[in-house]
Amino acid sequence: MSKKSELSTQFHTRIDLPAETRLAMAVLLNERLADFLDLERQAKQAHWNIRGARFQQLHELFDATATLAVGWSDQLAERAGQLGVAAEGTLEVIAKRSRLAKAPLTVDRADQWVHVVAEALASCANAARANIDAADDADDAITTDLLTRITGETDKQLWFVESHLEPEPK
Ligand SMILES: [Fe+2]
Repeated sequence: MSKKSELSTQFHTRIDLPAETRLAMAVLLNERLADFLDLERQAKQAHWNIRGARFQQLHELFDATATLAVGWSDQLAERAGQLGVAAEGTLEVIAKRSRLAKAPLTVDRADQWVHVVAEALASCANAARANIDAADDADDAITTDLLTRITGETDKQLWFVESHLEPEPK
């Protein structure tokens, strides 16, 4: 059993996209998978450790974010599988591949958890958004649609979280 990550089109599929397209899409999908799994961990860290006057509201908001992240991760992983490529979602791979900033274990003020979760959501959304054109250029309409939907839903959750912060000057 190999621990190294060298993704390949290792599973047979009757999907008629070229093997190189399927592999290229699966590489993107696995990159985003690591981000979204990291988002789930960071949102739970915030959910467990939030304190202060807005505890209940933020505790629930962060839990909802974690639940959504699990669903998005599942869709990304299963699209890689459909394309004949392994999904890689172990802790070891997440730690190596995620592009999210590291989350703190504790913070000094409640608002800092809002910033942590907002940053994680934004990193996930912006990286997925940047992959939409690549999927479109590769003529993989299903991956294009998946990334577009997930980006839209992540943008919406980011709006929910950012709206708990005082408006900042543009
Ligand atoms: Fe909980």
